[in-house]
Amino acid sequence: MPRLNVNIDHVATVRQARRGLEPDPIFAAYLVELAGADGIVVHLREDRRHVQDRDLKILKQTVKTKLNLEMAPTSEMIEIALKVKPDTVTLVPEKREEITTEGGLDVLTNSKLLSRTVGELKENDLFVSLFIDPDINQIRSAQSTGADMIEIHTGSYSEANVYEKREYEFKKIVDAVRMTIEHDLRVAAGHGLNYINVKRVSSIAGIEELNIGHSIIARSVMVGIERAVREMLQLCK
Ligand code: PXP
Repeated sequence: MPRLNVNIDHVATVRQARRGLEPDPIFAAYLVELAGADGIVVHLREDRRHVQDRDLKILKQTVKTKLNLEMAPTSEMIEIALKVKPDTVTLVPEKREEITTEGGLDVLTNSKLLSRTVGELKENDLFVSLFIDPDINQIRSAQSTGADMIEIHTGSYSEANVYEKREYEFKKIVDAVRMTIEHDLRVAAGHGLNYINVKRVSSIAGIEELNIGHSIIARSVMVGIERAVREMLQLCK
């Protein structure tokens, strides 16, 4: 069974809707760990739309499992990663206007920048993962950067709502996992995984970790709202 890392970005999204203090992702991370998750993931975006620098700093001090920092390969983020020293740095592409990470890194086109970034992070003893699409050329290129791990983008599989397309995308993930292992890289997977589509992906031998965020935070709202209302009613009485 792969390890489960929970991405808590969207706890911060709700907090940032009011620019206030609640809900605090630090408290959420504590509960996530208490529930048995193997790690906490946060994406510190250039525009700080959800997770803030303060969150990352405190999480580094409080997370007792593993902290995975997703970030773009920019000099600002590299400086932060070297200071905070998370357990894993996952390099992701980032566009300001996107709603979420849209695709994997184009390692082929950006091999120089990525090799330099991976090199700098690894010189400072950081474990580096690259988020890429399930594509053999990207995997080959990722290996040449010196990264430790590849996180295979499962978004196209997750979004496929026609049987044939879903099967096609699933096979791409299976092949990519095999090829990644053949290239002596460790394998994680994530993006768009939910309570319906996760089973098949978690059954693929060789995937060490799954990184899941949105579906878990969305479900938390649904399973928690009834209790939250009852508590408020009690106070109103
Ligand atoms: N992996 C990476 C690299 C991501 O950027 C994200 C989204 O932040 C995830 C996994 C989690 O995706 P989701 O929120 O759809 O579960």
